[in-house]
Amino acid sequence: MMIEAINLTKSYNNVPILKGVSLTINKGEVVAIVGPSGAGKSTLLQLLGTLDSPDSGEVRINGQLLTALKDNQLSAFRNTNIGFVFQFHHLLPEFTALENVCLPAYIKGSLSQAEITAQAIELMRYLGIESRVSHKPSQLSGGEQQRVAVARALINKPAVIFADEPSGNLDTQHAHELHELFFKLSKDFEQTFVIVTHNNELAKMANKLFVMRDGKLVNE
Ligand SMILES: Nc1ncnc2c1ncn2[C@@H]1O[C@H](COP(=O)(O)OP(=O)(O)OP(=O)(O)O)[C@@H](O)[C@H]1O
Ligand SMILES: [Mg+2]
Repeated sequence: MMIEAINLTKSYNNVPILKGVSLTINKGEVVAIVGPSGAGKSTLLQLLGTLDSPDSGEVRINGQLLTALKDNQLSAFRNTNIGFVFQFHHLLPEFTALENVCLPAYIKGSLSQAEITAQAIELMRYLGIESRVSHKPSQLSGGEQQRVAVARALINKPAVIFADEPSGNLDTQHAHELHELFFKLSKDFEQTFVIVTHNNELAKMANKLFVMRDGKLVNE
């Protein structure tokens, strides 16, 4: 089991947003989370992804109980095990595509610059953007920018990738290619994907589908 959440609750300003969410996700699965706006999908993803902590309940990733970790241990755990892809990819505009991809590996600090560059280029080749290494984000198409963001999320070979509406600002074709890529990576490297989406194609293709409504999972 890769991810286990037990009875998560979370309130903002005394308003309950998550009202007891439990789920399990296995290694190598591509999981979709769907549901109406405001249901709590992004909030759940933040808790599963260690970006925020629940008011009560437990999250385990790869057997590690997250609430047992101190802040600095948590960021180390996150940087080693978890990748994030957001709808708006937050690439750093003053850096090239290659530099953006390399950044998490520099922060992790366990490889030389040459090794990091080699891995980043290999990853960008795998994603079909190797000819774009020297481009700045503003010189890339939306789909290319999104793939750079995906490469950046993958550079440290995380076991789990959390994605919040990753295809939300892509056209049908680019969205389709990105979805294919998630499944390919899950097969090739047994990486686990947890994806909040409004995209029907992805929801249908997913190995597991969670439906969220009013702070609860109503259907699997
Ligand atoms: N940091 C915050 N402070 C206060 N309220 C918040 C915060 N984050 C989320 N909320 C509230 O929690 C509720 C759920 O938000 P969340 O972003 O999880 O919904 P969602 O299911 O991702 O919706 P969408 O599909 O529109 O992205 C919303 O009513 C939102 O206003
Ligand atoms: Mg959201």
